Amino acid sequence: MDLEDLPGVGPAIAEKLRDAGLNTLESVAVASPGELVATAEIGEAIAAKIINAAREAADIGGFETGDKILERREGIGKLTTGSKSLDELFGGGLETQAMSEFYGEFGSGKTQLAHQLAVTVQFPQERGGLNGSTIIVDTENTFRPERIKDMAEGAELDYEDVLKNIHVARAYNSNHQILLVQKAKELADELVDTEKPVRLLIIDSATAHFRSEYVGRGTLADRQQKLNKHLHDALRFGDLNNAVVMITNQVQVRPDAFFGDPTRPIGGHIVGHTATFRTYLRKSKGEKRIAKLVDSPNLPEAEAVFSVSKVGIRD
Ligand SMILES: Nc1ncnc2c1ncn2[C@@H]1O[C@H](COP(=O)(O)OP(=O)(O)O)[C@@H](O)[C@H]1O
Ligand SMILES: [Mg+2]
Repeated sequence: MDLEDLPGVGPAIAEKLRDAGLNTLESVAVASPGELVATAEIGEAIAAKIINAAREAADIGGFETGDKILERREGIGKLTTGSKSLDELFGGGLETQAMSEFYGEFGSGKTQLAHQLAVTVQFPQERGGLNGSTIIVDTENTFRPERIKDMAEGAELDYEDVLKNIHVARAYNSNHQILLVQKAKELADELVDTEKPVRLLIIDSATAHFRSEYVGRGTLADRQQKLNKHLHDALRFGDLNNAVVMITNQVQVRPDAFFGDPTRPIGGHIVGHTATFRTYLRKSKGEKRIAKLVDSPNLPEAEAVFSVSKVGIRD
């Protein structure tokens, strides 16, 4: 079923919905009437009718029994970062079925870590990997196969093989980014029975497009709502594929901060509440970086030192 099959949705309205990132029945089903009114320029009553029809038609999930959830959680895997001290910070590595957010200023190592994870995820379990492949949504055009080559060689792997298991798409704007994460599901379904199922989804950066596009346009609430839905799509991807979801986020300087570190992550509470693990990265001397786990459901706030070298992330 397409959006056009919903009662009251013709080609013009469908196009407006798609432009706003509401491109699946599921996304319309969980939208608010106000959101539809604003994006499709329709009345409240029609919006409610469209949403109700989408709810009936869409698979929006539902209740699961606790034993099913336990069974799924028993399959949680841990992915090595390449650094022992960083792995220890996360209780043995980055968890699957969870979202790990890394925020920090320019050059703090977010993108380097993303590259590194795209390599380590391909390791067998004995080496701390998940024997899987990666999907990268690259919003800042910072994916560099040359860095993968360095890191693959550092890990004594054939770089051409490693590159073949990294699926990269450049996202040109926030709507495109939303769409790509929804498309990621299709690619994961295709690869599920192959030697390297998708076990890692990276969005680098998750917030940059949202931040730049909504400056002086639209409302902040509108932006936050879209970002919220987008991040939940990503989280759901992690659950369904038993994958690590790694997102990066920038910081902004808080001019009103009198005490402590004046930087804070952008995206506000939305990102903070969606990410399962939040880590703040900052530069230290030379190759050294400091990671601070600032939020986790089951681990203490703590710091670890790691380094970014030619061959990748190390202690
Ligand atoms: N080939 C390399 N060898 C060693 N260090 C590198 C190499 N490439 C990048 N780096 C380090 O990574 C930093 C960039 O980190 P990056 O992850 O891109 O930052 P961001 O947090 O902005 O994404 C560079 O400043 C440099 O310190
Ligand atoms: Mg970066």
